[in-house]
Amino acid sequence: MSDNDVTVVHHPLVQHKLTLMRDKTTPTAVFRQLLREISLLLAYEVCRDLEIKMVDVETPLETFPSPKLGGKKLCLISILRAGNGLLDGILDLIPSARVGHVGLYRDPETLKPVEYYMKMPHSLNERLCIVVDPMLATGNSAAAAVQRVKDAGAVNLKFVCLLAAPEGINVFQKEHPDVPIVTAAIDRELNDHGYIMPGLGDAGDRMYGTK
Ligand code: URA
Repeated sequence: MSDNDVTVVHHPLVQHKLTLMRDKTTPTAVFRQLLREISLLLAYEVCRDLEIKMVDVETPLETFPSPKLGGKKLCLISILRAGNGLLDGILDLIPSARVGHVGLYRDPETLKPVEYYMKMPHSLNERLCIVVDPMLATGNSAAAAVQRVKDAGAVNLKFVCLLAAPEGINVFQKEHPDVPIVTAAIDRELNDHGYIMPGLGDAGDRMYGTK
């Protein structure tokens, strides 16, 4: 399904794995493995419209014009720390992609996102930048991270998450209407603590066994 540049990947494998991830009894190692597997499937969707060019390939039998990726180079950008769970799986599929990281925390007084880490590859303006974070909850940190990536030069971006809240999608799209979102599901709502309901809990804690 694609609506207002939000694509929900309804593939049965994605939905099955997501259900296992939501289950609170799923152990940390299994959760991490499932996230890695789902990220491959989300990457398949986000790369659907990559440009290709025809090149001549010599098979053992003859020369043949065959498609190869030909458009912009890719950059994957992880929003720390949970973004790394999606990043690892996508890198399995696109090992030659460059990688950037953005780390933000929320200032307890101003409630504004403050950057604590930012490292990007060069020539972001020439790349398709795929920003990844499993949970699009309030949308504030994702929107702030994408703004920093744009400030660093990126002009062509997509955002990939596992779960999105309607509130987060609204905030994100208001600030970045040019950035399509790909997600495995849009959940009901945010609770008073900013958690996605029904959700899967804190993605970072569940990936790394912290609490
Ligand atoms: N971050 C998470 O890890 N989980 C949520 O539900 C919301 C934000």
